Amino acid sequence: MRNVLRHARLVLVGLILALPSYMRAEVSAEQGKQLFKANCARCHYVTDKRFVGPGLAGVQDRWSDEGNLLAWIRNSSDYLKTGDSYATKLFEEYNGSVMPAFQLSDDEIKSILAYIADPGEEAAPATASTDGAAAAEGGQTGGGDNTLLTYILIGVAVVLLILARSLNSVSKALENVRREKAGEEPIQEESINVVGKTVAWMAKNKRITAVIAIVLVGALSYKGFVALNTIGVYEGYQPKQPIAFSHKLHVGQNKIECQYCHSTVEKSRHANIPSANVCMNCHKAVQEGPQYGKNEITKIYAAVGWNPEKNEYFKDYAKMDKEELASFYGSYLGDEKAAAAVEPFIQSNIEWVQIHKLPDHAYFNHAQHVKVGKVECTTCHGEVGEMEEVYQHSPLTMGWCINCHRETEVQYATNGYYERLHQYYKEHKGEYEMREGQAFTVEKIGGLECSKCHY
Ligand code: HEC
Ligand code: HEC
Ligand code: HEC
Ligand code: HEC
Ligand code: HEC
Ligand code: HEC
Repeated sequence: MRNVLRHARLVLVGLILALPSYMRAEVSAEQGKQLFKANCARCHYVTDKRFVGPGLAGVQDRWSDEGNLLAWIRNSSDYLKTGDSYATKLFEEYNGSVMPAFQLSDDEIKSILAYIADPGEEAAPATASTDGAAAAEGGQTGGGDNTLLTYILIGVAVVLLILARSLNSVSKALENVRREKAGEEPIQEESINVVGKTVAWMAKNKRITAVIAIVLVGALSYKGFVALNTIGVYEGYQPKQPIAFSHKLHVGQNKIECQYCHSTVEKSRHANIPSANVCMNCHKAVQEGPQYGKNEITKIYAAVGWNPEKNEYFKDYAKMDKEELASFYGSYLGDEKAAAAVEPFIQSNIEWVQIHKLPDHAYFNHAQHVKVGKVECTTCHGEVGEMEEVYQHSPLTMGWCINCHRETEVQYATNGYYERLHQYYKEHKGEYEMREGQAFTVEKIGGLECSKCHY
């Protein structure tokens, strides 16, 4: 009995001593591997093989300063502003394709670098290009595992504490039975009860106890806070799309307005994704692209039933024989691989992968922001006109919404939507008069009320 008790205590003390090391986010190649898979694998190999971005083997030797490398990985666009010649050259070599920004701590990035330095066996993730979307889907900026472990450990510690306590009283009872039989004095409370002793010590050393408690609670809630803030955050999410549609080419180079394709954005809650018919307004004529030739544009034709040889739609396209169509587009393309890629589009819809998605309990309205609030698309979505492939630029967290509502002024004076409000302010001068220089922010019209954003 006594032994069991001693062991339980030892384990307990061991656990408590072990706790802090779990609460520190440590640099580990194992964690780095997870982070790499979630955030980087869709563009990089850990070997020296080039993918969307450079092969990362030996990358630390290419960067003389680790601080610069960390800064680059966290936000390469910002880093480029420093004018660093190596980075600029690299950026140009990769045709100015941008690496998304990451919300990663130094330790997390160091973990990734540790993994890159020693990736073990599966150095060449050959599947990275095909399951890129899946990898990115899990692509929250992580760190949750550690927290989970911490909580589990604390749970175990509490259980053990309770166990030790009851073991204590059981063993005390047994000891007392023995002493009673032997005619000895029953044992005193303090001599055996660790918990009681601890409590007594705590009562005597209130100040030290308070400090320990604050540090413990602080460390835990910081970890919890960080974890909660990163749950479901998909910043940088960039899934592979079925057609290599480039905003950079269409918006940046050909100056097509966002609203030409996302035509509902000023009228309704959601911005629509254009249908293939909208693409066809131009692609009846534009049959080849600068980068992929006919290959990608033919996917649109296969979806809508366009015959690019006769420049007309097939009649009764839905009823045509799929195999015949496959061989038609195959011979039009004259390339087996491209033909195979086009085949799934025949007689079907283009299934774009959704990138931005708020949880169901949150309400966001585009028209309110774009039309009424006059917020630019780029404020929330980044420089889409420079993106070859769209990725999620902003975190889309509640904190992100709220921060902007605290800082951004409502366009009430110049916007017809607020004419009545403006009128009201004029009429109630004095009572409601705006103080000179005071910002009339979204917060002031109720932009921080829970019910505005939650059902
Ligand atoms: C969307 C694609 C993409 C993702 C995701 C991505 N990168 Fe990159 N990365 C690039 C490209 C492209 C470059 C080349 C420079 C440029 O064009 O900006 C690059 C360059 C780099 C470089 C410099 C390489 C060298 O040779 O000096 C490092 C280091 C790097 N990335 C690390 C990472 C890490 C770590 C992650 C994950 C946290 C990551 N990248 C995620 C596309 C990506
Ligand atoms: C020629 C048509 C076209 C134009 C012009 C265009 N887009 Fe798009 N946009 C698309 C298509 C198609 C998709 C879906 C495929 C993709 O994500 O690349 C898309 C996707 C998006 C997405 C991601 C949607 C999601 O799933 O969350 C955003 C954000 C976006 N566009 C913003 C813009 C902005 C901002 C502009 C103007 C600067 C713009 N688009 C101009 C066609 C267009
Ligand atoms: C105030 C920030 C903000 C602005 C400004 C903004 N968006 Fe969005 N956008 C979002 C959010 C948030 C989502 C996710 C909405 C959801 O899941 O309900 C989104 C989603 C989208 C989508 C995916 C479809 C959808 O509606 O869910 C497209 C496409 C898009 N935005 C295009 C645009 C275009 C084009 C503009 C400019 C005309 C624009 N956005 C301006 C925040 C913004
Ligand atoms: C307003 C006209 C217009 C619309 C609408 C339009 N495109 Fe384009 N698209 C172009 C032009 C112009 C080019 C580039 C031709 C060139 O530079 O040789 C192009 C090129 C392309 C390419 C070839 C890329 C390459 O590098 O090979 C693809 C793929 C493409 N568009 C897909 C789409 C899709 C999908 C849609 C509908 C969502 C669409 N486009 C809507 C005008 C348009
Ligand atoms: C870049 C700044 C910005 C961001 C980010 C932003 N908003 Fe807004 N929001 C505004 C502005 C400006 C208005 C005021 C529009 C107007 O004049 O009515 C507004 C208004 C609103 C309103 C109406 C408030 C009212 O009292 O009528 C709701 C609801 C709202 N936003 C939800 C959201 C949600 C949800 C998000 C995050 C997903 C978000 N907003 C992110 C700038 C922003
Ligand atoms: C300006 C818009 C806005 C306002 C105001 C707002 N929220 Fe949110 N809230 C959001 C968005 C957007 C999300 C989803 C964030 C995400 O998925 O990361 C969210 C998420 C949440 C969640 C879930 C957390 C999670 O991790 O999914 C809770 C709980 C919540 N909000 C409570 C509140 C309460 C309580 C208030 C009022 C004090 C409030 N919200 C006000 C936009 C808002």
